[in-house]
Amino acid sequence: MGGTLDYDASEARQEEAIYRTQSAAARRERIRELLDLELGDEVLAVGCGPGFEPAELGWEVGERGHVYGIDQSRAMLDLARQRCAPLPQVTLSQGNAVALPVANESVDAAVAVQVFEYLETVDSAISELARVLRPGGAAVVCDADFATLVWRSPNPERMGRVLDAFDDHCPQPRLGSRLTPHLREAGLEVDRVEPNAIVNTELDEATFAYHLMQFIEDYAADHDDVGPTVAEAWADDLREQAAAEETFFSFTQYCYLVRKPGSR
Ligand SMILES: C[S@@+](CC[C@H](N)C(=O)[O-])C[C@H]1O[C@@H](n2cnc3c(N)ncnc32)[C@H](O)[C@@H]1O
Repeated sequence: MGGTLDYDASEARQEEAIYRTQSAAARRERIRELLDLELGDEVLAVGCGPGFEPAELGWEVGERGHVYGIDQSRAMLDLARQRCAPLPQVTLSQGNAVALPVANESVDAAVAVQVFEYLETVDSAISELARVLRPGGAAVVCDADFATLVWRSPNPERMGRVLDAFDDHCPQPRLGSRLTPHLREAGLEVDRVEPNAIVNTELDEATFAYHLMQFIEDYAADHDDVGPTVAEAWADDLREQAAAEETFFSFTQYCYLVRKPGSR
């Protein structure tokens, strides 16, 4: 969830820790259910990150199928290559969501999870997605609306200040609630929109909230409206609250199941 997409190896591993959590695994599982893949399908994972998506999609489509994982970050692709090494049906390439290195109408299904919110040019990425899907093909586009972040704090004013600053970490912090017109503009039909809510009432390494806290603390420490002292005090509050078993964290992303008109 880095503000810059120019991850080094250590930032990529930090982000990988978020995708290891049960919350992220459950989201991927639900997205695969929505896609309803068949053995032999060809699938694209746009912004595949550390490779959980292409690996799991690879198991789903089997050796007769194929998964193309695209990411612009070399550090992320290094992690994805390790994760997908046992799967010959997965091909990973460096590429940009706004100019996918994939032929027209060549995939049965696609996923783009928490990628488009990091782009300045959402429409170009969505029209690329529409271009590469076969007629009748399905995709799940999932993005957050960071206004859905509810995080109990003994200091709500400071919490508000830190979360306002964190909104600047990506160009489209509200995209999750605003995707429909962009998808329709690209000629995609929106079949279904589902919330994916992550709720944590504990704050340890197994939780999404714990890893997001680290990102936000680092980001806010460098932000002019917060700075390192306030960022550290904010995180200390959350740790103290966790010690008192009073954590409440909730964050919602929205998953859009879309279809390219036509039949497969
Ligand atoms: C928040 S991570 C999500 C990773 C993955 N989709 C998942 O849910 O496990 C966003 C990923 O999108 C990639 N990304 C961001 N902008 C991109 C672009 N323009 N083209 C390709 N990949 C991009 C980043 O490098 C990062 O790996």
